[in-house]
Amino acid sequence: MPRRLHALKPAVITALAALSISPAGAQESVQQGAALYRSRCGLCHEPGGTGTFMLSRRLGRERGLLAGRTDLTDGYVMQVVRHGLMSMPRFTRVELTDAELASIAAYLAAGKQR
Ligand code: HEC
Repeated sequence: MPRRLHALKPAVITALAALSISPAGAQESVQQGAALYRSRCGLCHEPGGTGTFMLSRRLGRERGLLAGRTDLTDGYVMQVVRHGLMSMPRFTRVELTDAELASIAAYLAAGKQR
């Protein structure tokens, strides 16, 4: 390899590493969000939960399970969790940190339309 190219290599590797951080990081956050969602929201939002029941009744059965929804944006999820919605209780930053909420919202909105 010519000397000049050789000198460039670390910079190229650094740039490539930086590029790969965001998709890998986002993926990690979605996985974390899925686990947090099950432990923090699952009680009410898994099948048989009151959230699932109330949403099915108000919006229709196909929209009852949050994890199966394709119309949730991360902004909307964060809004509902911080402020509550009808019988859905709000979560303070002590109960759920911003980072935890962001990963739950990323999980619920992942791969879906924004
Ligand atoms: C104590 C039960 C309970 C817990 C815990 C809970 N929810 Fe809910 N959630 C509800 C209920 C009940 C509704 C439906 C409100 C209504 O329509 O009356 C709801 C509605 C929602 C909605 C609105 C969906 C829509 O289509 O408008 C979102 C988003 C939501 N919850 C997200 C979450 C997330 C994220 C968590 C965990 C951080 C969570 N909820 C934890 C009970 C709960």
